[in-house]
Amino acid sequence: MPVITCIEDLKQIYKRRVPKMFYDYAETGSWTEQTFLENTSDFQELHFRQKIAVNMEGRSTQTTMIGQDVTMPVALAPVGLTGMQCADGEIKAARAAAKFGIPYTLSTMSICSIEDVAAHTDHPFWFQVYTLKDDDFMRRLMERAKAANCSALVITVDLQMLGQRHKDLKNGLSAPPKLTIKSIADMMTKVSWGLEMLGTKRRFFGNIVGHAKGVSDASSLSSWTAEAFDQSLDWKRIGQLMEMWDGKVILKGILDAEDAKKAADLGADAIVVSNHGGRQLDGASSSIRMLSHIVDAVGHKTEVMFDSGIRSGQDVLKAIALGAKGTMIGRAYTYGLGANGEQGVTDALKVIHKELDTTMGLCGRTRISDINQDILIVPDGFHRK
Ligand code: GLV
Repeated sequence: MPVITCIEDLKQIYKRRVPKMFYDYAETGSWTEQTFLENTSDFQELHFRQKIAVNMEGRSTQTTMIGQDVTMPVALAPVGLTGMQCADGEIKAARAAAKFGIPYTLSTMSICSIEDVAAHTDHPFWFQVYTLKDDDFMRRLMERAKAANCSALVITVDLQMLGQRHKDLKNGLSAPPKLTIKSIADMMTKVSWGLEMLGTKRRFFGNIVGHAKGVSDASSLSSWTAEAFDQSLDWKRIGQLMEMWDGKVILKGILDAEDAKKAADLGADAIVVSNHGGRQLDGASSSIRMLSHIVDAVGHKTEVMFDSGIRSGQDVLKAIALGAKGTMIGRAYTYGLGANGEQGVTDALKVIHKELDTTMGLCGRTRISDINQDILIVPDGFHRK
């Protein structure tokens, strides 16, 4: 493996190793990809204030997320089809996160099932659910997550229906991949990926196949979402789902202060300011632009986490400075996983940790709890207090 200096290095290796269909799935936004692109480019509009001659010894990036100790304020976000980016991907990512001392979130749309990840890891993980119509399936999923000792439920609240991702439709995305001349030709060039995939039995949506009733094509993301997702979702239903879990709940996918207040009023332990990585409402504001505004509205009532657009420790620091208590990364670790399995995820976490730690020091801060907007120059449009 070449020397890994940044997340982009992992992305380049990932692109070479993984079939186009799965690379495209991760590396896409909906429709024009405006929001997807602005999620990352808007970070560049925030600048740090350099501070010199401050004692930087004894720095620590440790903090807590929903009361859990974490090595740095970063959790692995739920990412669908992780086990297609790399054989047994969810187990590998969960192990890397546990060893690093940060939370892992397993997606409902994972390849390895809840039970499988629990059996092959020794640390509680968070479990993500969508807001589905089928009450029995939701209840059963939550029971399975409880039995697997999951320590929090992440409810995705921004996906009642799927934003269109052109590439997925063109590629005929499915798990396992449908064998067409195009997909076979592509997979034949991804030899190590293919050999590892042939060596595992985990190639289907492990939480859905055999568990969800009335789903005619459980291999296709678009047909599953069209059939199973609850377009009539309202706050009452979100409250019901929170009660069904009866444990720590994180509501993920909030981009509006009024919505954040409703989530806090329902008693969410945390919310995640997120536009789903630019994969849902194309044309929505980048997530980082909305963060400070939402922290002002509900930061005193609930824990505000942040995702969408983080590709570096500097980005993590900017989100913390704008008031997030913690962050989630999705693509940044997926690149590592696709590039080099568990070790690649560890490499991604090391890169982000080092960037966070060094940048924090160069801003004259040694503790996460000392970080605030004073380390930033924030332009108009980021809702600075
Ligand atoms: C699923 O949540 C996706 O964004 O693909």
